[in-house]
Amino acid sequence: MKAGSHVLLCVTGGIAAYKAASLASALVQGGAVVDVMMTAEAERFVGPLTFSALTARPVYSSLWDAPERIPHVRLVREAQAAVVAPATANVIAKLAHGIADDLVTTALLAARIPVVLAPAMNDAMYRSEATQANLRALRERGYDVVEPGVGFLAERESGIGRLAEESALLGAIEVALARTRALEGLRVAITAGPTREAFDPVRFVSNPSTGATGIALAREAHLRGADVTLILGPTQLEAPAQVRVERVTTAREMYDAAIERAVGADVIVAAAAVADWRPADASERKVKKTEADLNVRMVRNPDVLAELGRRKGETFLLGFAAETEDHEANARAKLARKNLDAIAVNDVSGARGFGAQENALVVLWGGGGRRELGTARKEVLAARLLDCVQERMQARHARSGVEDDECC
Ligand code: CTP
Repeated sequence: MKAGSHVLLCVTGGIAAYKAASLASALVQGGAVVDVMMTAEAERFVGPLTFSALTARPVYSSLWDAPERIPHVRLVREAQAAVVAPATANVIAKLAHGIADDLVTTALLAARIPVVLAPAMNDAMYRSEATQANLRALRERGYDVVEPGVGFLAERESGIGRLAEESALLGAIEVALARTRALEGLRVAITAGPTREAFDPVRFVSNPSTGATGIALAREAHLRGADVTLILGPTQLEAPAQVRVERVTTAREMYDAAIERAVGADVIVAAAAVADWRPADASERKVKKTEADLNVRMVRNPDVLAELGRRKGETFLLGFAAETEDHEANARAKLARKNLDAIAVNDVSGARGFGAQENALVVLWGGGGRRELGTARKEVLAARLLDCVQERMQARHARSGVEDDECC
């Protein structure tokens, strides 16, 4: 977190309110300026004095008792990001429906900054259709929801509803703080997910990619102001509502969609796990198991990214390298071979990579440039990766003949 970052912490009335004190302290220790707003219900669980002592700033809880007339607008204007922790079912419902009947909900209705929501409540309340629909609506409007954890709840029962771990909250706040409108006016195209290569109507060759990284990148790029096109292979995950999505199944469909929709974009990210081969002959009828063994001849699929590299022009082209060995050497070879501006190295040898919640990435670029993005949730890595792309684009812009590989 950048020192001097300004965070608005909204504490609402659940038992997890006591954990918000520790979050406030961690933010302050990370160098942030923290303003705290509390609902009247939150004050029943923790006193405002706790927060004012931790943040060395006044704590706000009423629309009426502040020295100035409209603190709700000032506080959301000054902050760079807001976090609601814990967010009760009641406050989530009010935010989803635009109800503004206290300082916190009024301020958040006026907010034009990124808002992180950390729900914490009873398991049944969290799972209820009403809460889930409200959270879906807020996600679609760009709120970041940090899912609660599973474990012991205040009702002396186990379930989902515990406030997310502090490290997850800090990660989400870091992402929110990084979210400026830095990609305003730029076209970003992203390939994501696996492809499927059928050899009869009921069988295909594919891989375990879920598209989570590409989807997180699309959402993050949209929130930074970009005009985003997501070319997405078959996945169970939902695509962000606000981005243009082109659904494809096979590598050849992905190739065609990318050539049509991605060429000429300002930034292209190739996060898809494209199948390198497809069965030479796809049977129109289901292949019967009349023989003990089945030999399927596979032929090469087009390399989408290599073709985009050939047609690159001024586009900033970021590829991925899924590797199980000699990761960085293999990735550097791909960087050069496919004419890329940068490549993100993905270790797919263990539990990480495909299908995992967390990942670890290293970014490489020409002239020996290298940056570790660390291990984090895919949403956090997506934000760090876009920071890196923005910095590399700026460096390229500023370069004018001088090699600049100092930072990413
Ligand atoms: N890629 C692509 N089209 C393909 C294969 C790969 O666009 N047919 C892209 C991927 O989206 C990724 C990059 O190329 O951004 C590298 O993919 P990866 O699977 O790591 O490497 P390959 O090029 O397939 O090489 P290899 O299988 O030898 O590792």
